[in-house]
Amino acid sequence: MSNLAKNYNRKKISFKKGKGSYLFSNKGKKYLDFVQGIAVNSLGHAHPKLIRVLNNQSKKLWHVSNAFIIPEGEQLAKKIAKKTFADFVMFQNSGAEATEAAIKVARKYFYSIGKPNKNRILCIKNSFHGRTLATIYASGSKKMTEGFGPKVSGFDHFNFGDHKSLKKLITKNTAAVMIETIMGEGGIKVIPDWCLKDLRKLCNQKKILLILDEVQCGIGRTGDFFAFEKSKVKPDIVPIAKGIGGGFPVAAVLMNKKVASGMTPGTHGSTFGGNPLAMQVSNTVFDIISNKVFLNNVKKNSSYFHKELNKIKDKYPKIIKEVRGRGFLIGLQLYGDQTDFIKRLMDNKLLTIRAAENVVRVLPPLNVKKNEIDQALRIIKKVCSEIY
Ligand SMILES: Cc1ncc(COP(=O)(O)O)c(C=O)c1O
Repeated sequence: MSNLAKNYNRKKISFKKGKGSYLFSNKGKKYLDFVQGIAVNSLGHAHPKLIRVLNNQSKKLWHVSNAFIIPEGEQLAKKIAKKTFADFVMFQNSGAEATEAAIKVARKYFYSIGKPNKNRILCIKNSFHGRTLATIYASGSKKMTEGFGPKVSGFDHFNFGDHKSLKKLITKNTAAVMIETIMGEGGIKVIPDWCLKDLRKLCNQKKILLILDEVQCGIGRTGDFFAFEKSKVKPDIVPIAKGIGGGFPVAAVLMNKKVASGMTPGTHGSTFGGNPLAMQVSNTVFDIISNKVFLNNVKKNSSYFHKELNKIKDKYPKIIKEVRGRGFLIGLQLYGDQTDFIKRLMDNKLLTIRAAENVVRVLPPLNVKKNEIDQALRIIKKVCSEIY
């Protein structure tokens, strides 16, 4: 009997090692891992550079308090500021922490300019921003909040695509709109570029902040370092996590100079956030992924994957309804429930994971090889042919 709490519905399989795009089970079976810890292992399993940097740092210094200067974090923040919209970075450990801290940054900014009542955050209904008390209420999903009352107030919700109610819900008390640039758990729903542009304009008009949650869709997953870059929109605050640690728990809130002005000493903190071990790994992940050649390769390989998946969709139009997403954040929306399809893929040694709206999420590592994509395509095709 397991003594772990029963809050996960775990598949009856465990793994003893991973290498690149592959996982090896305790029963000696080899799986193509297109889950990668749900978009976490951005460079696959056991990347030699990450192993080296982790080993080296582990012999020097693991952890010091944020009461002291941490040069490894200073270095990473400088690189992020140089290459992105952000002027300042606040390191955290998980996506939920980062999104919750993003909310704090937005509220504290308005408080610091004498507008303490401007504190409400407008989010998409049934989005996903994490599992802390505030972030479940930010997500606005009944399933996630049921039983966890009393309600954390301060959040308003509009339905995906309902621009009328989005506009209507912005009041004098609204501090920010917070959305995922591409909704991950919600079914790999891309917010179109024109929407992001209009949203930025609206936020400027109403003098409110734009928070883009890039925890799942950021860090090279779409072929741009951030998913929002394609739209040329500049957000005010961006929580990141998952891919930035390549498997090591790292998260951060990125912000522009204006909003960062509210974050004075003592306003936020984290014991572990930004420790030397995490920062050294993350520096290496950032160096690899933020490289233009690397990102172009993600674009090239992922567009091949999308093209071939669409061919499978066209061949099996009664099974696959839509190939969703961008880059290597891919969703196969099925007509029916996806449980059996995911099981069949797994029986054929391809690991994928579900998302809402009957979606099978396909999340290869960003450095996946073409022959591994081809292997996945063969398995997906085989499963479609079996159930056709
Ligand atoms: C968009 C988004 N935000 C926040 C989170 C929460 O991240 P974590 O599970 O690291 O707390 C997730 C996790 O899936 C996510 O996809």
